[in-house]
Amino acid sequence: MARTNNNIIASMDIGTTKVSVVVGEMGPDGVLHILGEGSAPSHGLKEGEIKDIEKTAHSIQEALNAAEDISGYKISRVYVGIAGGHITGVNSNGIIKIHGNSVTDKDMARVLESAKALAIPPERKVIHVLPQEYTIDDQRYISNPLGMAGTRLTANVHIITGRDASIKNIMRACEECGLEVEEVVLESLASAHAVLSPSERKNGVILIDMGGGTSDILIIAEDAVKYTGEVPMGGEHMTNDIVRMLRASREGAELIKIRHGCVLDSMVQPAEQIEVPEILSEHAPHMVQRSVLAMVCQSRMEEIFSLIEQNLNASGFKEQAVGGVVLTGGASLIRGCRELAEDMFGMPARIGYPVNVGGMKEMVDDPKFSTVVGLLRYGAEQERKRGGNARKNKAGGRTRTMEAEGPKTSERLGRWFRALWQWIKDVR
Ligand SMILES: Nc1ncnc2c1ncn2[C@@H]1O[C@H](COP(=O)(O)OP(=O)(O)OP(=O)(O)O)[C@@H](O)[C@H]1O
Ligand SMILES: [Mg+2]
Repeated sequence: MARTNNNIIASMDIGTTKVSVVVGEMGPDGVLHILGEGSAPSHGLKEGEIKDIEKTAHSIQEALNAAEDISGYKISRVYVGIAGGHITGVNSNGIIKIHGNSVTDKDMARVLESAKALAIPPERKVIHVLPQEYTIDDQRYISNPLGMAGTRLTANVHIITGRDASIKNIMRACEECGLEVEEVVLESLASAHAVLSPSERKNGVILIDMGGGTSDILIIAEDAVKYTGEVPMGGEHMTNDIVRMLRASREGAELIKIRHGCVLDSMVQPAEQIEVPEILSEHAPHMVQRSVLAMVCQSRMEEIFSLIEQNLNASGFKEQAVGGVVLTGGASLIRGCRELAEDMFGMPARIGYPVNVGGMKEMVDDPKFSTVVGLLRYGAEQERKRGGNARKNKAGGRTRTMEAEGPKTSERLGRWFRALWQWIKDVR
């Protein structure tokens, strides 16, 4: 008989290079327990956006099957990420008169609603209204005004909007796989949830999520999002450069980038040679100096960083990021990335891995899983705020649960070990 568990949640990152699904549960200790992860190569996306729903749905189904297999749970609803050049973030504010003697939940909802009353064209939709700070009468910098006395409440917010059609494409691809979308969440915001420490969020930090097709930027200070931006360039562009410049096959270029790539040519020995698989498979591989590969990788990474720098300078919030830069996403793993970032941005940098997770945490211990883990954490927080029970969630009172097929423990362990073994082989 199928078991049900309302505390189980699932998240999905539909990235340019891979779709990842993670199943987890928030433990009573407040630690997010990972129960399983499934990934599949992504098809039908370009620069973070769906361009072919059928192909994307196929990738989603593959990742979903893997996650269900490993966790033993049937997934019916997901928190899903969104990114791409259509996303915009603006700062705005809303003002309302406080009804009664002190600020109530209703007042909080009204002031955010009033901040949302921007002139948004019909083809765009609001994805997030993120509070920055509140003011009651002339008292500024209030982080939580609930219960406070006053007559006028102002909210400063960061509003994220996206193209309605792009949001609908995500929903449609999920529906094709029988999935209900709980919420669409900005991918860089999710990554921030997974990798940043409370002190970084407070002191000010720049988060750069470097994926395959895009590099997403977020500035967080005083625990609030100040700026969101994007550069339509990532690790795939570097792979394409290697294909063109070194006459490598695509698979070969990806392989040598991961094995031997470096974005600081000073970090490689001048005499070191590497084998480059040819575009035409019947040709024997040729040898090139590793420093030539490093030069190709470095020039692309420098281009990405200088475009990010332009974004940061134009944002007006760069000076607030006294905590430095946190780089995450798969492309941040290339050797020398942290050092080059420190050099170009002139501030300390680190590589951000998903933190504060338990259970099968080894499965997601990689910057390429920051988004999907952050989506899971975001989802867990939303459900805790709603009362820790998905049944109470939304209008209509529909019951939405994760069902476990209830396999024998030995079967589940067997499946898990097979998946773990495959994963160990993949990372070798
Ligand atoms: N060890 C590594 N060294 C260099 N690059 C790597 C490494 N591991 C992964 N990458 C690169 O990271 C990129 C994929 O990162 P990620 O999985 O975060 O992207 P994505 O989420 O699918 O894409 P996007 O966020 O742009 O939509 C690929 O270009 C891949 O080559
Ligand atoms: Mg990504």
